[in-house]
Amino acid sequence: MGGRPLNELVDLDGMSKVQLSEVTGEGRHAYKAIEHEQEDNLEHVHLLHIPEDNPLTSNKAPKISIKDLHRYTDSGDLILSEISLDISAGSVLGIIGPSGSGKSTLLRAINRLWEPPPASIFLDGNDITMLDVISVRRRVGMLFQLPALFGGTIADNLNYGPSLKEEELSHEQMIELLRYADLDATFLSKSVVGLSVGQSQRVALARTLANNPEVLLLDEPTSALDPVSTQNIEGTILNLKMQKGLTIILVSHSLKQVQKIADVVCVLADGNIVETTYPSELHHSTHPVVRRLLEAS
Ligand SMILES: Nc1ncnc2c1ncn2[C@@H]1O[C@H](COP(=O)(O)OP(=O)(O)O)[C@@H](O)[C@H]1O
Ligand SMILES: [Mg+2]
Repeated sequence: MGGRPLNELVDLDGMSKVQLSEVTGEGRHAYKAIEHEQEDNLEHVHLLHIPEDNPLTSNKAPKISIKDLHRYTDSGDLILSEISLDISAGSVLGIIGPSGSGKSTLLRAINRLWEPPPASIFLDGNDITMLDVISVRRRVGMLFQLPALFGGTIADNLNYGPSLKEEELSHEQMIELLRYADLDATFLSKSVVGLSVGQSQRVALARTLANNPEVLLLDEPTSALDPVSTQNIEGTILNLKMQKGLTIILVSHSLKQVQKIADVVCVLADGNIVETTYPSELHHSTHPVVRRLLEAS
C-alpha cells in the first residue's frame, strides 16, 4: 500500500484541514502537516502520525512477516493457531492477552528460541529458518521478564555479544549503550552483584543493544519491576523507538503500558489473534477477552 499523496488535504477532526507537505521519519507514517488556513505561518507546522487503513501495513515492506504460524503440543493441544501478522519497520507492536494464550511462544518463534515451521516467519522477506540462527538472534534481540546477567562487571556483560564476533566495544560505545538504557558511565566498572532488579534489567537491555539489533522482542520486560523502574524502562523503550528506529514487539500484561508505547496492538487468546487495532481504539472492542482485560486495567 502506498503512502498518502503529498499536498492532499486531510480533515483531521472535522474542523482543522491540514495539507500534507512532506513525508518524514524512518519507515513510519509520519507527515509534516501545515494547517491550511495558516499555511504561511511556519510556527504552525507540526508532525503528525496519520495511519493508513490497515494499521499493520505501511508503505514499506514489513520488517517481520508472519504467515500461518501454528504450533501444537506433542499431545496435540493447540498453542498457536494460524497466526498471520505483518510488522512494519520502526513500529512498535504491543501484544496482550491472558496468561497461557501463547504470547511468549510467539515471541520465541521470532528469534528461533522455538524453531518455527519453515516459511512461516520472514525477516526483511527472508525465511528465518533458512538464515544462520546466530545471525537471526543478533538481528532480533530479546529481553525477558527477569534479567539474566553473567558474572563480572557491567562492561564484561556489554562486551559479551561483540566478543563472540571477536570484536570489542570502545569506551565511548559502552557509554552510549548505557545512555540508551538510562545508566550513567560509573556503572561500567561495577559488578553485577548488588544491582537492583530494575538496574539489572537496564543492563540486560544495554547488553542486547550491544549486538546492534534491528528488532527488539520484549517479553513482559517490566512485570518484575517496581513502578519507578517500570517508568524508566518504558521511557527507554520509547527512546529506542524514536532515536534508533528499532522495530519493537512488546508483550505486556499492562494495557496502560501498551497504550503508552505501542503503535498497534494485537490481542491473543487461546493461540489466536482475536483483535488487531490501535491502542486508542481498544476500548471499542466487543470481544469478551478484550472487555475482560479492559475491566481489569
Ligand atoms: N514446550 C511446550 N510444551 C507443551 N506446552 C507448552 C510448551 N510451551 C508452552 N506451552 C503451553 O502453551 C500455552 C502458551 O504458553 P505461553 O506462550 O508461555 O503463554 P503466555 O506467554 O501467553 O503466558 C500454555 O498453555 C503453555 O502451557
Ligand atoms: Mg509469557
